[in-house]
Amino acid sequence: MSKGVPAPQHGTTDVRLGHIVRLLMEHATVVVSGTKIGQEISSSRSDVWRLIQQLRGLGVDVAGHPATGYQLRAMPDLLLPEILRPVLRGTIFDAHLDHFYKIGSTNSEAMAAAAEGAPEGSVFLAEEQTAGRGRGSNTWQSPRSSGIYCSVVLRPALPPSDVLVLSLGAGLAVQAAIQQVDSRVNIDLKWPNDALIDGKKVCGILTEMNAEATRVRYIVVGIGLNVNQASFPKELPATSLRLVTGSEWSRVELVGALLKSLDREYRALITEPNARESILERFGKRSTWTRGKSVRIEENGGAFEGVTEGLDSRGFLLVRTERGLQTVLSGTVRER
Ligand code: BTN
Repeated sequence: MSKGVPAPQHGTTDVRLGHIVRLLMEHATVVVSGTKIGQEISSSRSDVWRLIQQLRGLGVDVAGHPATGYQLRAMPDLLLPEILRPVLRGTIFDAHLDHFYKIGSTNSEAMAAAAEGAPEGSVFLAEEQTAGRGRGSNTWQSPRSSGIYCSVVLRPALPPSDVLVLSLGAGLAVQAAIQQVDSRVNIDLKWPNDALIDGKKVCGILTEMNAEATRVRYIVVGIGLNVNQASFPKELPATSLRLVTGSEWSRVELVGALLKSLDREYRALITEPNARESILERFGKRSTWTRGKSVRIEENGGAFEGVTEGLDSRGFLLVRTERGLQTVLSGTVRER
């Protein structure tokens, strides 16, 4: 973005905003002059003022004005690359972090970027999505700065048939991250990709890929996590971490834990020979849905009912029905 232009509604965030926030965080106890900030970000004092105004518009609490200098009144919980990069150092996600204040869908952005050659580990984060996508034809409600809307590009040397296991591993990473931040929260995993608390959805994962017959070109794993939403429409069986625990969560802390956890699962999957068995075993243990659950499966316009009987070696759900054991490849699983 050119200097002095107001923050765009769409498009990557001006990196100078992140630089200013980091600078103010590093000098949180003092007032930092507009001249000093301007020198640090190679911008004029009037640009600094405009950028400070943009930050305020985004909810960052900055005291001061050009004559006095500036000081942060509270640490902002924005998912800015400048703030996240140090947390992610050493993971595959520390080099290419893209942040948007508003975007249609981080998955669409990540898929388009991957098609253009975005490297493995590229991360796309948004404060708000205007066209967040869910599995099937569902949408994903993505209000500003209350959830985590995150998509990552992966380029594993795996056959397309292993992508489901990767996606189950992403669910385990979500569960681990939430429990790392607050071990009292009990997260259930619903096959293939939902995280639930007390039966209500707190997280959904949309995995999309571009592949040849035997080889994945790229995968985008998109994670939508309900963090600080105060309410949901009555008809949605959804909840947020704030609604469950009664207090606000730091999205910065949670997304850091999430990407570190995803990094661990992913690296293991592409390097360790028994990682896929480990994912299937752990998913089976940490989900109440994979065994002994009476379910209704809605798949390809049809539906059938039965009782779950574990996962097969590729991660597909096995369901015992009146007509024998059925393998569920995709579709919606509901409790009966
Ligand atoms: C589902 O449960 O249906 C999957 C929801 C996935 C939502 C996330 S939010 C970040 C990424 N961008 C999208 O448009 N969708 C995914």
